[in-house]
Amino acid sequence: MKFTIAPSILAADFACLTKEIEKIHKIPDSQVHLDIMDGHFVPNISIGPCVVKNLRRMTDLPFDVHLMIDNPENFFSQFKDAGANYITFHIEQAHEPLPLINKLKKLGIKPGIAIKPSTSLDKVEYLLPQIDVLLVMSVEPGFSGQKFINSSLKKIERLREIKESKKLNFQISVDGGINDKTGETAIKAGADILVMGNYFFKNPFELVQSEIEKLRKK
Ligand code: DX5
Ligand code: ZN
Repeated sequence: MKFTIAPSILAADFACLTKEIEKIHKIPDSQVHLDIMDGHFVPNISIGPCVVKNLRRMTDLPFDVHLMIDNPENFFSQFKDAGANYITFHIEQAHEPLPLINKLKKLGIKPGIAIKPSTSLDKVEYLLPQIDVLLVMSVEPGFSGQKFINSSLKKIERLREIKESKKLNFQISVDGGINDKTGETAIKAGADILVMGNYFFKNPFELVQSEIEKLRKK
């Protein structure tokens, strides 16, 4: 099975990020998932552009910035300057998503759209030809370590159908409660990118590494 691993540093040890990023380096086909939270859109606060900018000095891996903030467009330039490659904003926070997508493209950023577990695909289907990533949240945004919501699999399957029937190129990313088991079901349903927080950083690295290798051999 072919897929990208995007460890979410929200679950990493912030006192030794260099070591944590090293772990991501050891996984082929990986990128760094950065969760940005403002305490408004979600009931939690995380990191801002200056941390992302400092992390950029440690690695050439792609940076996948997941904005869970009000008025995400106000921060596109700052995250671009901090070294983002992908920027994903929530459809629930965007009254007019198309201009935002175009703004990201103009900055040279790959645009992504995220949907909460309760948001229907109807809200984003018309945007799929315009974006690089559709991120399906499989937990309520805000915290690492929650349980995978099974109904997300239906959305992933439907997205794969749309992608194949319309010959579109966007990647399907799944974020929340991903481990070796839920990851495997998500890939079988059609996911291209597995975001992994707790499972990646809170288990012994050798175990995680070998489970990812096993999945790739299947
Ligand atoms: C939640 C974040 C996720 C989270 C994933 O709002 O978007 O990226 O860190 O963590 P796990 O894999 O532990 O659910
Ligand atoms: Zn995320």
